[in-house]
Amino acid sequence: MFLEINQVVKSYRSGGRKSPSRKVLNGVDLALEPGEIIGITGDSGAGKTTLGLILAGIMRPDSGRVSFAGTDLWASNATIRKSISRRLQIVFQHPESTFDPQWTIHQSLSEPFILCGVMPDLSILADHLAEVELNSEILERHPRQLSGGELQRIAIARIMALNPKVVVLDEPTAMLDALTQARILNLLERIRQRTDAAYVLISHDTDMVNRFCQRIHRLSDGRLE
Ligand SMILES: Nc1ncnc2c1ncn2[C@@H]1O[C@H](COP(=O)(O)OP(=O)(O)O)[C@@H](O)[C@H]1O
Ligand SMILES: [Mg+2]
Repeated sequence: MFLEINQVVKSYRSGGRKSPSRKVLNGVDLALEPGEIIGITGDSGAGKTTLGLILAGIMRPDSGRVSFAGTDLWASNATIRKSISRRLQIVFQHPESTFDPQWTIHQSLSEPFILCGVMPDLSILADHLAEVELNSEILERHPRQLSGGELQRIAIARIMALNPKVVVLDEPTAMLDALTQARILNLLERIRQRTDAAYVLISHDTDMVNRFCQRIHRLSDGRLE
Protein backbone atom coordinates (compact mmCIF):
# COMPACT_ATOMS: atom_id res chain seq x y z
CA MET A 1 0.00 0.00 0.00
CA PHE A 2 1.06 3.49 -0.77
CA LEU A 3 -0.49 6.02 1.64
CA GLU A 4 -2.08 4.38 4.63
CA ILE A 5 -3.35 5.53 8.00
CA ASN A 6 -4.28 3.11 10.77
CA GLN A 7 -6.26 3.71 13.94
CA VAL A 8 -5.68 7.43 13.85
CA VAL A 9 -6.95 9.36 16.87
CA LYS A 10 -6.95 13.14 17.22
CA SER A 11 -8.49 15.21 20.01
CA TYR A 12 -8.75 18.94 20.55
CA ARG A 13 -9.32 20.78 23.80
CA SER A 14 -12.40 22.96 23.65
CA GLY A 15 -10.73 25.87 25.46
CA GLY A 16 -7.66 26.34 27.62
CA ARG A 17 -5.18 23.73 28.77
CA LYS A 18 -7.41 22.37 31.50
CA SER A 19 -10.60 22.19 29.43
CA PRO A 20 -11.93 18.78 28.40
CA SER A 21 -10.79 17.35 25.09
CA ARG A 22 -13.01 15.97 22.38
CA LYS A 23 -12.01 13.17 20.04
CA VAL A 24 -12.54 14.48 16.52
CA LEU A 25 -11.02 11.36 14.94
CA ASN A 26 -11.52 8.18 16.88
CA GLY A 27 -9.73 5.31 15.18
CA VAL A 28 -9.67 6.14 11.47
CA ASP A 29 -8.27 3.71 8.89
CA LEU A 30 -7.76 4.63 5.25
CA ALA A 31 -5.58 3.29 2.45
CA LEU A 32 -4.93 4.87 -0.90
CA GLU A 33 -3.55 3.46 -4.16
CA PRO A 34 -1.56 5.48 -6.73
CA GLY A 35 -3.81 7.42 -9.08
CA GLU A 36 -6.93 6.76 -7.06
CA ILE A 37 -9.54 9.47 -6.38
CA ILE A 38 -11.35 9.08 -3.13
CA GLY A 39 -13.96 11.37 -1.65
CA ILE A 40 -14.43 12.30 2.00
CA THR A 41 -17.75 13.84 2.96
CA GLY A 42 -19.26 14.73 6.30
CA ASP A 43 -21.03 17.49 8.12
CA SER A 44 -19.34 20.73 9.04
CA GLY A 45 -17.18 20.10 12.11
CA ALA A 46 -17.00 16.35 11.46
CA GLY A 47 -13.20 16.48 11.28
CA LYS A 48 -12.64 16.50 7.52
CA THR A 49 -9.96 19.20 7.57
CA THR A 50 -8.27 17.50 10.53
CA LEU A 51 -8.15 14.25 8.57
CA GLY A 52 -6.84 16.11 5.50
CA LEU A 53 -4.01 17.69 7.51
CA ILE A 54 -3.07 14.27 8.90
CA LEU A 55 -3.14 12.66 5.43
CA ALA A 56 -0.97 15.48 4.09
CA GLY A 57 1.62 14.87 6.83
CA ILE A 58 1.12 18.34 8.33
CA MET A 59 -0.58 17.37 11.57
CA ARG A 60 0.62 14.61 13.85
CA PRO A 61 -2.15 12.39 15.24
CA ASP A 62 -2.32 11.71 18.99
CA SER A 63 -1.98 8.03 18.23
CA GLY A 64 -2.13 5.72 15.23
CA ARG A 65 0.13 5.34 12.24
CA VAL A 66 0.59 7.32 9.04
CA SER A 67 2.75 5.53 6.51
CA PHE A 68 3.89 6.24 2.98
CA ALA A 69 5.30 3.41 0.85
CA GLY A 70 5.73 1.37 4.02
CA THR A 71 7.62 4.05 5.98
CA ASP A 72 6.06 5.28 9.22
CA LEU A 73 6.03 9.07 8.78
CA TRP A 74 6.06 10.13 12.44
CA ALA A 75 8.52 7.45 13.54
CA SER A 76 11.04 8.67 10.94
CA ASN A 77 13.77 11.24 11.39
CA ALA A 78 13.27 14.81 10.17
CA THR A 79 15.10 14.24 6.86
CA ILE A 80 12.97 11.27 5.87
CA ARG A 81 9.82 13.00 7.09
CA LYS A 82 10.62 16.03 4.95
CA SER A 83 11.15 13.93 1.84
CA ILE A 84 7.86 12.08 2.41
CA SER A 85 6.00 15.32 3.17
CA ARG A 86 7.05 16.73 -0.17
CA ARG A 87 5.15 13.89 -1.84
CA LEU A 88 2.01 14.76 0.11
CA GLN A 89 0.42 18.11 -0.71
CA ILE A 90 -2.76 19.92 0.20
CA VAL A 91 -4.95 22.52 -1.50
CA PHE A 92 -7.03 24.60 0.89
CA GLN A 93 -10.46 26.15 0.55
CA HIS A 94 -9.13 29.71 0.73
CA PRO A 95 -6.29 30.07 -1.79
CA GLU A 96 -5.54 33.60 -0.45
CA SER A 97 -4.27 31.99 2.75
CA THR A 98 -1.54 30.11 0.90
CA PHE A 99 -0.06 33.18 -0.81
CA ASP A 100 2.03 35.92 0.72
CA PRO A 101 0.15 39.11 -0.27
CA GLN A 102 3.46 40.98 -0.63
CA TRP A 103 4.86 38.51 -3.13
CA THR A 104 4.30 38.46 -6.85
CA ILE A 105 2.93 35.27 -8.37
CA HIS A 106 6.38 34.81 -9.88
CA GLN A 107 7.90 34.69 -6.39
CA SER A 108 5.19 32.37 -5.02
CA LEU A 109 5.45 29.96 -7.94
CA SER A 110 9.26 29.94 -7.76
CA GLU A 111 9.30 29.08 -4.06
CA PRO A 112 8.87 25.29 -4.34
CA PHE A 113 11.74 25.16 -6.84
CA ILE A 114 14.00 27.31 -4.68
CA LEU A 115 13.28 25.06 -1.68
CA CYS A 116 14.62 22.21 -3.82
CA GLY A 117 17.70 24.26 -4.69
CA VAL A 118 16.87 25.24 -8.28
CA MET A 119 15.96 28.59 -9.78
CA PRO A 120 13.19 27.89 -12.30
CA ASP A 121 13.38 29.63 -15.66
CA LEU A 122 10.38 31.42 -17.10
CA SER A 123 9.54 28.69 -19.56
CA ILE A 124 9.14 26.12 -16.76
CA LEU A 125 6.82 28.44 -14.84
CA ALA A 126 4.90 29.15 -18.05
CA ASP A 127 4.44 25.39 -18.60
CA HIS A 128 3.05 24.95 -15.11
CA LEU A 129 0.71 27.90 -15.62
CA ALA A 130 -0.42 26.58 -19.01
CA GLU A 131 -1.43 23.32 -17.37
CA VAL A 132 -3.89 25.28 -15.22
CA GLU A 133 -4.97 27.37 -18.23
CA LEU A 134 -3.24 30.58 -17.23
CA ASN A 135 -0.99 32.87 -19.19
CA SER A 136 2.46 33.81 -17.91
CA GLU A 137 1.50 37.51 -18.01
CA ILE A 138 -0.02 37.04 -14.53
CA LEU A 139 3.45 36.34 -13.07
CA GLU A 140 4.06 39.99 -12.24
CA ARG A 141 0.74 40.39 -10.41
CA HIS A 142 0.07 40.17 -6.68
CA PRO A 143 -2.59 37.85 -5.16
CA ARG A 144 -5.11 40.69 -4.70
CA GLN A 145 -5.02 41.30 -8.46
CA LEU A 146 -6.40 37.83 -9.23
CA SER A 147 -9.81 36.21 -8.90
CA GLY A 148 -10.46 33.38 -6.45
CA GLY A 149 -10.60 30.85 -9.29
CA GLU A 150 -7.31 32.08 -10.77
CA LEU A 151 -5.62 31.97 -7.37
CA GLN A 152 -6.86 28.45 -6.75
CA ARG A 153 -5.47 27.38 -10.14
CA ILE A 154 -2.11 28.95 -9.24
CA ALA A 155 -2.20 27.14 -5.87
CA ILE A 156 -2.67 23.89 -7.82
CA ALA A 157 0.17 24.75 -10.23
CA ARG A 158 2.41 25.50 -7.26
CA ILE A 159 1.93 22.17 -5.53
CA MET A 160 2.12 20.25 -8.80
CA ALA A 161 5.59 21.71 -9.29
CA LEU A 162 6.63 19.50 -6.36
CA ASN A 163 5.47 16.39 -8.21
CA PRO A 164 3.29 15.09 -5.36
CA LYS A 165 2.07 11.52 -5.16
CA VAL A 166 -0.95 12.39 -3.04
CA VAL A 167 -2.93 15.61 -3.24
CA VAL A 168 -5.50 16.40 -0.56
CA LEU A 169 -8.10 18.82 -1.89
CA ASP A 170 -9.92 20.36 1.09
CA GLU A 171 -13.11 21.97 -0.24
CA PRO A 172 -11.08 23.35 -3.15
CA THR A 173 -14.03 24.91 -4.96
CA ALA A 174 -16.37 25.78 -2.09
CA MET A 175 -15.80 29.52 -2.56
CA LEU A 176 -16.19 29.42 -6.34
CA ASP A 177 -19.12 29.57 -8.77
CA ALA A 178 -20.36 26.44 -10.54
CA LEU A 179 -18.61 27.17 -13.83
CA THR A 180 -15.24 27.83 -12.19
CA GLN A 181 -15.72 24.73 -10.05
CA ALA A 182 -16.31 22.55 -13.12
CA ARG A 183 -13.27 24.04 -14.85
CA ILE A 184 -11.01 23.35 -11.87
CA LEU A 185 -12.27 19.77 -11.49
CA ASN A 186 -11.61 19.20 -15.20
CA LEU A 187 -8.07 20.42 -15.01
CA LEU A 188 -7.42 18.45 -11.82
CA GLU A 189 -8.56 15.32 -13.64
CA ARG A 190 -6.27 16.09 -16.59
CA ILE A 191 -3.30 16.64 -14.28
CA ARG A 192 -4.06 13.38 -12.49
CA GLN A 193 -4.00 11.47 -15.75
CA ARG A 194 -0.59 12.91 -16.56
CA THR A 195 1.00 12.49 -13.13
CA ASP A 196 -0.88 9.49 -11.68
CA ALA A 197 -1.11 11.34 -8.35
CA ALA A 198 -3.82 10.10 -5.98
CA TYR A 199 -6.44 12.62 -4.91
CA VAL A 200 -8.40 12.88 -1.68
CA LEU A 201 -11.30 15.22 -2.38
CA ILE A 202 -12.84 16.58 0.81
CA SER A 203 -16.21 18.24 0.43
CA HIS A 204 -19.59 18.60 2.08
CA ASP A 205 -21.00 18.70 -1.49
CA THR A 206 -21.99 15.06 -1.96
CA ASP A 207 -23.13 15.61 -5.57
CA MET A 208 -19.70 16.88 -6.57
CA VAL A 209 -17.92 14.07 -4.73
CA ASN A 210 -20.19 11.50 -6.39
CA ARG A 211 -19.35 12.88 -9.82
CA PHE A 212 -15.62 13.09 -9.29
CA CYS A 213 -14.63 10.17 -7.05
CA GLN A 214 -14.29 6.44 -7.51
CA ARG A 215 -14.76 5.64 -3.82
CA ILE A 216 -16.48 7.72 -1.18
CA HIS A 217 -16.28 7.65 2.60
CA ARG A 218 -18.31 9.60 5.10
CA LEU A 219 -16.76 10.93 8.30
CA SER A 220 -19.19 10.71 11.17
CA ASP A 221 -18.73 10.44 14.94
CA GLY A 222 -14.97 10.33 14.50
CA ARG A 223 -15.02 7.34 12.19
CA LEU A 224 -14.98 6.74 8.46
CA GLU A 225 -17.89 4.85 6.99
N1 LIG B 1 -6.89 23.72 16.31
C1 LIG B 1 -8.08 23.40 16.87
N2 LIG B 1 -8.28 23.56 18.20
C2 LIG B 1 -9.45 23.22 18.78
N3 LIG B 1 -10.50 22.70 18.10
C3 LIG B 1 -10.36 22.53 16.76
C4 LIG B 1 -9.15 22.87 16.08
N4 LIG B 1 -9.30 22.58 14.76
C5 LIG B 1 -10.54 22.08 14.65
N5 LIG B 1 -11.18 22.05 15.83
C6 LIG B 1 -12.53 21.53 16.08
O1 LIG B 1 -12.57 20.19 15.67
C7 LIG B 1 -13.76 19.89 14.98
C8 LIG B 1 -13.46 19.39 13.56
O2 LIG B 1 -12.89 20.45 12.80
P1 LIG B 1 -12.52 20.29 11.27
O3 LIG B 1 -11.53 19.18 11.14
O4 LIG B 1 -12.11 21.62 10.78
O5 LIG B 1 -13.91 19.82 10.64
P2 LIG B 1 -14.53 20.00 9.16
O6 LIG B 1 -13.42 20.29 8.23
O7 LIG B 1 -15.22 18.69 8.90
O8 LIG B 1 -15.52 21.12 9.26
C9 LIG B 1 -14.59 21.16 15.01
O9 LIG B 1 -15.49 21.07 16.10
C10 LIG B 1 -13.58 22.24 15.26
O10 LIG B 1 -14.14 23.33 15.96
MG1 LIG C 1 -13.02 21.81 6.88
